[in-house]
Amino acid sequence: MTETNNKSAATLLIGPIKEILTPICNDNKPIRGQAMDTIKHIKNGGIAVNNDKIIAIGAYDDVKTQITTNANTQYIDASDNIAIPGFIDPHTHLVFAGNRASEFVERTLGKTYQQIAQAGGGILHTVKHTKEASLDKIVKLGLTRLKLMLEHGTTTCEVKTGYGLDLDCEIKLLEAILTLNKMQPIDLIPTFMPAHAIPQNKSEDEYTDEINNTMLEPAYKLIKEKYENNKPYFVDVFCDKGYFGKFNTIKILKKYKERGFQGKVHANEFENLSLVKEAIDNGAISCDHMLNTNNADIEALKHSNTICVLLPGTSFFLNLDSHANAKLMVDNSVAIALGSDYNPGSSHIFSIPFIFGLACLKLKMTPAQALTATTYNAACAISAQAYTGQIDTGYKADINILNVECIDEIPYNLTINPIKQVIKNGKLVYTKK
Ligand code: NIG
Ligand code: FE
Repeated sequence: MTETNNKSAATLLIGPIKEILTPICNDNKPIRGQAMDTIKHIKNGGIAVNNDKIIAIGAYDDVKTQITTNANTQYIDASDNIAIPGFIDPHTHLVFAGNRASEFVERTLGKTYQQIAQAGGGILHTVKHTKEASLDKIVKLGLTRLKLMLEHGTTTCEVKTGYGLDLDCEIKLLEAILTLNKMQPIDLIPTFMPAHAIPQNKSEDEYTDEINNTMLEPAYKLIKEKYENNKPYFVDVFCDKGYFGKFNTIKILKKYKERGFQGKVHANEFENLSLVKEAIDNGAISCDHMLNTNNADIEALKHSNTICVLLPGTSFFLNLDSHANAKLMVDNSVAIALGSDYNPGSSHIFSIPFIFGLACLKLKMTPAQALTATTYNAACAISAQAYTGQIDTGYKADINILNVECIDEIPYNLTINPIKQVIKNGKLVYTKK
């Protein structure tokens, strides 16, 4: 190929690719219902990239005619592999210290998550260890976890604070997220979540006022100082029995919205506190968990753009009897995405391919629905769908090359990591040894 003026130069050319599989959506809205099963397939495909963006996609032979190459162009042969968008994990609690392996064992012996929390374990246990750890230590722990996530194909990841529960420690965790964002390839999307549990010796009302009156401005200031200007940032509240009630959840969402934080809620994880409709009315971008979801919730959700982020890792890891009713949601055109909920207590699972498998097994989703829910729809849950979540021209070159022949093999190979190579922002950032 020779250089001509009207063709773009490829810094990276991936091809031939056995098959490219991607959701395609150009209206910025989540993909719903049966449309979740409509995946674009391109056999003998090619993807050309200029710096961080995709400049051409299609049949390999066609792509080659649309671009120019030079001595610096990098080539990736994927003739035995499929290419899918990089996974987007829209729900993690990645920054914390300590571990709760003993609680896992207690649960195998019959205790519930709530009983363990009431006895002083649970989130408050992790808060104690997180307060004791330095910022450097939290960053170091985070880096190790992000490396594992990248190896499993996560290219964009939402990360919540929430194991500080006081101003200093919550700001330390936010600082850790913003620092980690600059240290490694995965794009991190920060969520401020001081409303993760009620600290000892404070009432729910007292702590809610503290979150609104003393934590909002320092968190906002830090985000404005250290985060990319045009990117969204979020606030999340754990609304459940023994945590935050509906009244205080909405109070926090409203207050933070004034400062540009988009709202998220942990809803219906254990009990349904009738939050969903009001969360939607107050602009929540996502309602996460949604295990105990009723018809009124479904009715409210199907007329909204609020996304249900389903977290099958949590119901699996807690060994609960039931899982989120994804089928009911898909049948009612409720927008759904999938996430890992990676955290030390209820889901010590960071692998999106494994979550993909659980979604098929336990949530009865089809592989195509799971692909849509771990890529484009997951991007919608963190307002990132304008630039990532699908393989198309103009989007970021966030691409996974898989060692499988079709997406059915992702759930089928439940414990085998299918990722061969990860391309993030147009750079090859991981190759399986
Ligand atoms: O999403 N529900 C609240 N937060 C986490 C659990 C956190 C923990 O147990 O440390 C969750 O399940
Ligand atoms: Fe969570």
